[in-house]
Amino acid sequence: MRTAIYPGTFDPVTYGHLDILIRGKELFDGVTIAIAADSKKTPLFTLGERMELLLEATKDMPNVSVRVFEGLTVEFARQCGAVAILRGLRALSDFEYEFQLALMNKKIASDIETIFLMTQSEFSFVSSSAIKWAASLHAGVSDFVPVHVEKALMKKYASQRTLEDD
Ligand code: COA
Repeated sequence: MRTAIYPGTFDPVTYGHLDILIRGKELFDGVTIAIAADSKKTPLFTLGERMELLLEATKDMPNVSVRVFEGLTVEFARQCGAVAILRGLRALSDFEYEFQLALMNKKIASDIETIFLMTQSEFSFVSSSAIKWAASLHAGVSDFVPVHVEKALMKKYASQRTLEDD
């Protein structure tokens, strides 16, 4: 079995992530989506919520699993028995960060390769932050995220507004 992990914050999962996942899973026997517990970002969704959203989005993908990890990505890849880390590249602006991350990971674990897939052009401008921003201002985001993720965003921002009003 040759498997990969697909790490990220997934706050929340977008069609951009799913595009990479759907294409990436054809290259491996299995892919484990690895939600980083100690991301530098301040997430909107809890780890449990991000896990639920990913499980729903991938429920028809038999060779895909979802797990949370702490610590080094390469260590988690080893724990999973994975041979590769799957990442998406959207634009030139992603390159420098991804290049640095991939080299750092290669230095720490020379046996794990990073495989990059180019994000489809229709998702090249999508990011979880931009989607959250739009959703917080009541814009529909169904072009960028599955319906259940859009619903979760609307619920989250509605409850935040209720708290602010109190
Ligand atoms: N299409 C559209 N958008 C995409 C995308 C795609 N294919 N791929 C990523 N994005 C977006 C995400 O939505 C996210 O947007 P945001 O910044 O607005 O939230 C952004 O691009 C990048 O996020 P993501 O892919 O989730 O990566 P990340 O930078 O949040 O997480 C880790 C990176 C978790 C892999 C990295 O921090 C890590 O490995 N951490 C563990 C510690 C470690 O091992 N560090 C390295 C060695 S020192």
